Amino acid sequence: MRTSKVTGVGSFVPEDVYTNFDLEKMMDTSDEWIQQRTGIKQRMWVKPDQCTSDLALEASLQAIKNAGLEKSEIDMIILATISPDHDFPGTGCFLQAKLDLPEIPALDIRQQCTGFVYAMSIADKFIRSGSNKNILVVGAEVHSKGLDKTPEGRTVSVLFGDGAGAVVMSACDVDDPMKERCFIDSQLHSDGKFAKELWMPGPGSAIGENRADQNMLNEGLHFAQMNGKVVFVHAVKRMSQCLKDLCQKNNVSLDDIDLFLFHQANLRINSKVAEVMGIPEDKVFNTIQKYGNTTAATIPIGMHDAVKEGKLKEGMLVASAAFGSGFTWGSALYRW
Ligand code: ACO
Repeated sequence: MRTSKVTGVGSFVPEDVYTNFDLEKMMDTSDEWIQQRTGIKQRMWVKPDQCTSDLALEASLQAIKNAGLEKSEIDMIILATISPDHDFPGTGCFLQAKLDLPEIPALDIRQQCTGFVYAMSIADKFIRSGSNKNILVVGAEVHSKGLDKTPEGRTVSVLFGDGAGAVVMSACDVDDPMKERCFIDSQLHSDGKFAKELWMPGPGSAIGENRADQNMLNEGLHFAQMNGKVVFVHAVKRMSQCLKDLCQKNNVSLDDIDLFLFHQANLRINSKVAEVMGIPEDKVFNTIQKYGNTTAATIPIGMHDAVKEGKLKEGMLVASAAFGSGFTWGSALYRW
């Protein structure tokens, strides 16, 4: 049976570290508040001359190298971001040019914090269809250039970091998808009636006569707005439910899963999901303490760190789950 598997993983975060103490100087917050509410200790933010496709490039080159492939063997790019280099064209096109891989399709997807789970699922389906062999799947974000770093923005701005992660998903043939290395299954969801609980209103065609103007800037519509409590409750409920559904559908018990690589929005969300599901905390690999929330990049950055730390090893059964703006949410099951 033709399916796909992850053959290489890479990640990249900028070198400039901003601790919670650095943020105390900018936005009337405290290390204690941030750690207690979110688990975050620090995040990395880019220098002015770095953009999303620069971070994506570094992560992609590592993933391709670790897959043991030549760049020229990549036949598609799927890139998830909510902080693109420019409104258009898609950041995948800029990445493609930087990789010097002309003419292969480059597909940008949004789906916010669930972007990487969607991207892996889309890549798997292209590969299963027989149309592609090696797809570069990337999650990359530069949030720091879009944050309100004044006290007014503190509830949102303390949460986010910059970074990128990438995997190569390659075609493979397996007899038993439950026992061999492969991407087993995924579940994808969205519910747009909650779109405005976590969103960035501008620039956009729905905000008035012009998609961007001084009024938009004056009102701060270009900064993310979030109803944190609603997001928290839905994140726990939706991530738990879609993990449960995916396991049931594939006849897998939670005990069979060796490692959980969840989206990193908030340490408390992941602890609560583990508590509700009865998952031992040591099976959940968290990185938010070091990087903050890097949205579409959290899962592949976590994969790469887990490999480097010896926590993610060949043959392990892994489950990912993510929740984010949209609302969107999803889960994925794969044998590493
Ligand atoms: N530093 C210090 N004080 C702050 C800060 C800050 N950075 N931000 C808010 N406060 C204050 C508020 O002003 C408020 O003060 P008040 O009681 O005097 O009015 C108090 O702290 C509590 O504010 P709340 O907004 O009620 O804080 P809450 O306990 O809900 O925590 C948080 C906020 C951490 C965002 C929480 O709602 C949460 O975890 N939500 C989940 C959403 C999330 O994690 N989103 C991440 C991005 S989305 C994603 O990736 C899915």
